[in-house]
Amino acid sequence: MTQDEAKRMAARRALEFVEDGMVLGLGSGTTSAIFIRELGEKVKQGLKVRGIATSSASQQLAESLSIPITNFNDCPQLDLAIDGADEVAVTPNHGLALIKGGGGALLREKIVESASRRFIVVADSSKLVPVLGRFPLPVEVVQMALPIVNRQLVALGLNPKLRHHPDGSLYVTDEGNVLLDCACGSIPDPAKTAADIRAIVGVVEHGLFLNMASLALIAGEDGVREVHP
Ligand code: A5P
Repeated sequence: MTQDEAKRMAARRALEFVEDGMVLGLGSGTTSAIFIRELGEKVKQGLKVRGIATSSASQQLAESLSIPITNFNDCPQLDLAIDGADEVAVTPNHGLALIKGGGGALLREKIVESASRRFIVVADSSKLVPVLGRFPLPVEVVQMALPIVNRQLVALGLNPKLRHHPDGSLYVTDEGNVLLDCACGSIPDPAKTAADIRAIVGVVEHGLFLNMASLALIAGEDGVREVHP
């Protein structure tokens, strides 16, 4: 089974949690894009849902599929958010702990997912890890604060590296900020790392999502596993 096939299986399973009338958080990244496309098919067949997207790319995709888009004025609470992850670990103290932001959308993702009654992660089995940290942890930073935030992340031993596009241009998020990808190696105490990063003035948000997801749908050779906190 290819990674893409696994992503499709997870995304399709997530559709089973969607009910008529729901307001949905629409994630970002390749697995979420598959989910949004499958959702678009259901909408075409008559399913009534509305969505709030976690990135302009996901919003454009949803709109191109005629999935109605709403906002927090009209819908301050969402029923269900579906999103991918770069890493998923089951931890004793933080439930399902995630690293997100590989696609650069961690800020809106955290906003949308924290405003949702339920958050389900969709991923292929390569994302499930015993300890977070192999994937570099993205930290979103206000541009003018970059040098001082960078210095403090270095002092914490988090090994930050400014994100660029493959063509060498600076990566700027939907919110106009920049990203420092921290190659920490291993994050044995995610709550402490999250608190240390959050304490730095100039940090907007980080990609550790702790105790937020209630279920992960992890697809691999043996089908789709439901991983609970
Ligand atoms: C986007 O910012 C990320 O948090 C994605 O959810 C994450 O990178 C997973 O993406 P894929 O589904 O493309 O692996």
